[in-house]
Amino acid sequence: MKKIIVGNWKMNPPSVEEAVSLARAVAEHVKHPMFNKNVEVVLAPPFIFLYKVYETLYGGKVKLAGQDVFWEKAGAYTGEVSPAQLKNLGAAYVIVGHSERRALGETDEIVGRKLTAVLEAGMTPILCVGEPADVRERGMEAAKEFVGKQLEVIEHKVFEGIIAYEPVWAIGTGNNATPGDAAEMITLIKSLVTSYRLPIPVLYGGSVTSGNAGDFLNREEIDGLLVGGGSLNAEEFGEICRGA
Ligand code: 13P
Repeated sequence: MKKIIVGNWKMNPPSVEEAVSLARAVAEHVKHPMFNKNVEVVLAPPFIFLYKVYETLYGGKVKLAGQDVFWEKAGAYTGEVSPAQLKNLGAAYVIVGHSERRALGETDEIVGRKLTAVLEAGMTPILCVGEPADVRERGMEAAKEFVGKQLEVIEHKVFEGIIAYEPVWAIGTGNNATPGDAAEMITLIKSLVTSYRLPIPVLYGGSVTSGNAGDFLNREEIDGLLVGGGSLNAEEFGEICRGA
């Protein structure tokens, strides 16, 4: 199966010029004749940069993702962005339920509505799950139970999307999960959720760097990476993608 590597830029970079130059540099890496054809690269810029990044990537292989979305189709929802608007700007994927959104109050119910809205709009959701530090401190079984509960948002356990396992304690801390623990959790996730187009891709995210990317990508259970900080530098992100 193809490995999927998603660069989540979060609230970066500060200017549209930097967003365009970062996207252009990533596209150059992916265009290289030696670049692994079995790697799908996806960029998730902030909403306000999507259109310019879409123009920059147009006709190339790099795909686009929204970092979030609203669940309603249209109407009086100041500040929100609809699935149709995201799709119109070229987004093929949408990150849903990132722990940074959950920390701002996003509940499982909201996550569920967003998943439905993204699927109805014909895009692929990237559902983020992962346990916080206090749960992981109680051991791997407690972490598995927590993640299993988060997956209950998936109705009837059938999901036509991607899942990213991002332990909260590993995000932006430099303290990545071990590839073995990530693979164990991902195996559990795959056993809890199915898809009509089996197998369902499950990514790892949390302090991925060019130094550890290969260790994750070499595990057959791990179908790719969701990269935050490491995606903000085109050289580093190119190295991460070459780890596959
Ligand atoms: P870092 O790679 O910066 O730890 O962030 C991971 C993440 O949250 C990607 O969505």
